[in-house]
Amino acid sequence: ALQNSLSSRSVKSIGRTQYRLNPQASYKVAILGAAGGIGQPLALLVKMSPLVSSLNLYDIANVKGVAADLSHCNTPAQVSDFTGASELADCLKGVNVVVIPAGVPRKPGMTRDDLFNINASIVKTLVEAVADNCPEAFIHVISNPVNSTVPIAAEVLKQKGVYDPKKLFGVTTLDVVRANTFVAQKKNLRLIDVDVPVIGGHAGITILPLLSKTKPSVSFTDEEIHELTVRIQNAGTEVVEAKAGAGSATLSMAYAAARFVESSLRALDGDGDVYECAYVQSDVTDLPFFASRIKLGKKGVEALISSDLQGLTEYELKAVEALKGELKSSIEKGIGFAQKQP
Ligand code: NAD
Ligand code: LMR
Repeated sequence: ALQNSLSSRSVKSIGRTQYRLNPQASYKVAILGAAGGIGQPLALLVKMSPLVSSLNLYDIANVKGVAADLSHCNTPAQVSDFTGASELADCLKGVNVVVIPAGVPRKPGMTRDDLFNINASIVKTLVEAVADNCPEAFIHVISNPVNSTVPIAAEVLKQKGVYDPKKLFGVTTLDVVRANTFVAQKKNLRLIDVDVPVIGGHAGITILPLLSKTKPSVSFTDEEIHELTVRIQNAGTEVVEAKAGAGSATLSMAYAAARFVESSLRALDGDGDVYECAYVQSDVTDLPFFASRIKLGKKGVEALISSDLQGLTEYELKAVEALKGELKSSIEKGIGFAQKQP
């Protein structure tokens, strides 16, 4: 989407392709945790979006240099830096989309839930500031464990009296990006054609690719389904192990997060055909939060695509039942944390 959007706005002039300064660039995006492994490449990709007029970068340290560096790119977005809690409110004023990749990443041997003790408080504090300064913004939560940090964010917004479930998203785009890549590789398909919905949550068995709903329609052996499902579920761990202590996915995550930002901006801009998977408040199952395909509109989630959960294979039906216990307890853990805090 980012690529399409960029190329559709490029113009040919005397044999050279240039990006024209888009007169329609009018959206403000803030990244909280912008100096980190995800934050920096994400900031670069968002700086390339012709829909962005202001890009506000916030972190507790090292964000000045990132902003100075990015500000030299000749794309429309005006880059500003904000360091530390005293500058957070200014970072958020008037912002349309807030992306939150702040927090610690995994090391080998850890689960995403092992990050809860540190990241839960970080997300809570940042979302409080979002509630106070840009309660209308779309909020994209990347910080893990997403299965719990999104319910924490929802509770914080409720406590502040500004919760709009249509505007709070756990970012699961990377699961879709991975599923599309692995399926295209396995079946020798053109990457651009492949789309696999991924539902449930964002940890281990809660990540459930619906391979039977792959577009274009593909047939898999039982063995292929199992192998692909497990690889998609463990793809984060694959990267954590390859990085051997230096963190988790950052570049592919930035790519995925930029796609979700661009989709949100297109929806805000009135595009009536924007679909993504995301972890949101949901009634497609009996769990209060669930990732599924959603239709995005100007006001956030316009529809949950519950039809994806119809006509599942036996393998998928069993997997949906199997993930519910873990997802439920991660949701309850997040809600419990937010309700206990002063
Ligand atoms: P990182 O350590 O490289 O960067 C995190 C950044 O957050 C740092 O710059 C740090 O200074 C900043 N930070 C810490 N406390 C902060 C606070 N209170 N306010 C603002 N900024 C703060 O980590 P990373 O690799 O960028 O990963 C960040 C998070 O994203 C981790 O929790 C990781 O597990 C998660 N993640 C999620 C997905 C997903 O699919 N949703 C994918 C990859 C990583
Ligand atoms: C991922 O899926 O890559 C992220 O959730 C980071 C992790 O800890 O695996």
